[in-house]
Amino acid sequence: MDRARNPYTPNAGAPPRYFAGRATEVEDFRILLQRLAAGYTEQSVVVTGLRGVGKTVLLGEYRRIAEEEGWVPIDAEVSKNTDFGPQMANLARRALLQVSPKARWGERARAAAATLKSFSLTVQPDGSLTGGLDVEPGWGKADTGILTEDLADVFEAVGEAAKERESGVIFLFDEIQFLGRAELEALIGAVHRTVQRRLPVSFAGAGLPQLPGLAGEAKSYAERLFKFPLIGELPEAAAREALVEPARAEGVYLEPDAVEEILRYTEGYPYFLQEYGRAAWNLAEGPTITRADVQAAGDVVDAELDESFFRTRVQRSSPEELRYMRAMAHLGAEAHKAADVAGVLGKASEQVAPIRARLINKGLLYTPRHGYAKFTVPQFDRFMLRYMDLDVVPPA
Ligand SMILES: Nc1ncnc2c1ncn2[C@@H]1O[C@H](COP(=O)(O)OP(=O)(O)OP(=O)(O)O)[C@@H](O)[C@H]1O
Ligand SMILES: [Mg+2]
Repeated sequence: MDRARNPYTPNAGAPPRYFAGRATEVEDFRILLQRLAAGYTEQSVVVTGLRGVGKTVLLGEYRRIAEEEGWVPIDAEVSKNTDFGPQMANLARRALLQVSPKARWGERARAAAATLKSFSLTVQPDGSLTGGLDVEPGWGKADTGILTEDLADVFEAVGEAAKERESGVIFLFDEIQFLGRAELEALIGAVHRTVQRRLPVSFAGAGLPQLPGLAGEAKSYAERLFKFPLIGELPEAAAREALVEPARAEGVYLEPDAVEEILRYTEGYPYFLQEYGRAAWNLAEGPTITRADVQAAGDVVDAELDESFFRTRVQRSSPEELRYMRAMAHLGAEAHKAADVAGVLGKASEQVAPIRARLINKGLLYTPRHGYAKFTVPQFDRFMLRYMDLDVVPPA
């Protein structure tokens, strides 16, 4: 059918034509903002889940809801290569200027600008992050150079300015598993401060499933400040809607058998659903997508997923990292003990521990419980088995 009208969106972070499921997460977020705005306290959210399950898309929804609720959403992606202090200085400055245009700064906003200025100069002494903050730095606030202390001052200042305008600020951070421990600790501490002061400022985030553990290590009270909803495959009815609804909006119908076939292959994983939907659409004569179309599209889907979803993850892996993942794949999709993987490789655990640590650091593996590791990408085991020559790892 007409490829130009293909309604599926197999791209990282691409808002789907039909946003399926996730009703609880969306509703909880709205209530969080409403409660904070009214001066109640509420646990904030950090959405966790494997690759391709829709975390970034959900954060996008959060952004939309925040705007609807009259909040200022400030979104950013964390990366290993960005310095978090300067990034925060920049985001907080954006937050303040959006909460309150300079011409209308009240007393609180002016005080906040002074705090942000001293913070900016502390993390970036060349002054390159102070644009728009033409007040004297409020020395004594946010200027210790210790991120945990300073970020709390920054959040408090932004919160006071937002409260003055009867608004709120929500920082939305993606990929927060890439924050270092000190940075995560600072962020949690800052939220703690705003909860104590009952200010309308918070942060919500998304990242890989090891986050609750990381957060708990950084600050023991993290679990009382945050909820960590785990999202994954869409439930069957929602997965069906994710397939059927985008087509229906274009006047195209999927045979029930065709839908079932796609659900079986994709197990309801959002990225896979979008990829399969797109391939079947492109191949079908139309105006109905049949089971035969879906079957014929299977090879295209395998190839597309290998190319766009799986292979990009392994591109920067060393041969020994690949061998490690291949060994894990050999054991199956579930979590595996380090010793068992080492066993497949014919080595002792300690010998391969650095490889395992690097894979966790790169976000390819995570540790669902102590001593165990699992792939962060759904169906990655299947990919590794077909991607790598069988002779790389001799069968155990
Ligand atoms: N609720 C949903 N309904 C339908 N499609 C969705 C939904 N959520 C996400 N998708 C689709 O799934 C794919 C993956 O979404 P997204 O990039 O948000 O995942 P992610 O969890 O952030 O992945 P990663 O960990 O790789 O960043 C996209 O193609 C998106 O269009
Ligand atoms: Mg994402």
